Amino acid sequence: MYRPVIGIIISTTREGRFGDKPARWIFDIASERSDLVFEMVDLRDCPLPLFEETTGPSHEPPENEMALRWGEKIAGFDEYIFVTAEYNHSIPGALKNALDHAYPEFNRKPAAFVGYGGVGGARAVEQLRLICIELQMAPTRTAVHIGMEPVLGVRREGKNLSDYDLLNESAGATLDELAWWTHALKAGREAAVESVGAER
Ligand SMILES: Cc1cc2nc3c(=O)[nH]c(=O)nc-3n(C[C@H](O)[C@H](O)[C@H](O)COP(=O)(O)O)c2cc1C
Repeated sequence: MYRPVIGIIISTTREGRFGDKPARWIFDIASERSDLVFEMVDLRDCPLPLFEETTGPSHEPPENEMALRWGEKIAGFDEYIFVTAEYNHSIPGALKNALDHAYPEFNRKPAAFVGYGGVGGARAVEQLRLICIELQMAPTRTAVHIGMEPVLGVRREGKNLSDYDLLNESAGATLDELAWWTHALKAGREAAVESVGAER
């Protein structure tokens, strides 16, 4: 049976980023599920220029070669988990630029969130939810927020994110919600394709 494929997108690209740790942690928990398949997506592997197309991707596909590759990459996923830092109370510019470079590829798919930072990346996640709506995605209500205590525990005390029970619990709840939306929206997308086909 086909298992939906989920892209786990890391939002930052800088040398020495913290982002690898929450991404690896949620990937390990998620990979224990038998109903979904998970793949890590690193923006470093697709170094996009700052947006410079003549029109937005909701109107025309991009011309830039890397942007086309990025679109092809993300089109292959049934849903996404954004692992986002908070830069000046919003999402990192690298992630916003990547989101601006695609549109139909994201449409009608769910998005879940793992935020990290002083207040668990909450302000960035809230802004990201709004951006996802504009991209015609269905952002989940449940999210993981990795606050200062676990961030410092990992950075300064050599702890792992898996040492924090509340984080593990919220990861489980987030994955359960996203699984529901993934199956529901996948069925919806397939039904829409069939009804278009039937009209022809
Ligand atoms: C430009 C910049 C702005 C930041 N602004 C915030 C912020 O608004 N809120 C917050 O909690 N942390 C903020 N931070 C701290 C980041 O949460 C922290 O550096 C985190 O490790 C960044 O993720 P990264 O290591 O994956 O790049 C900021 C960091 C940078 C570099």
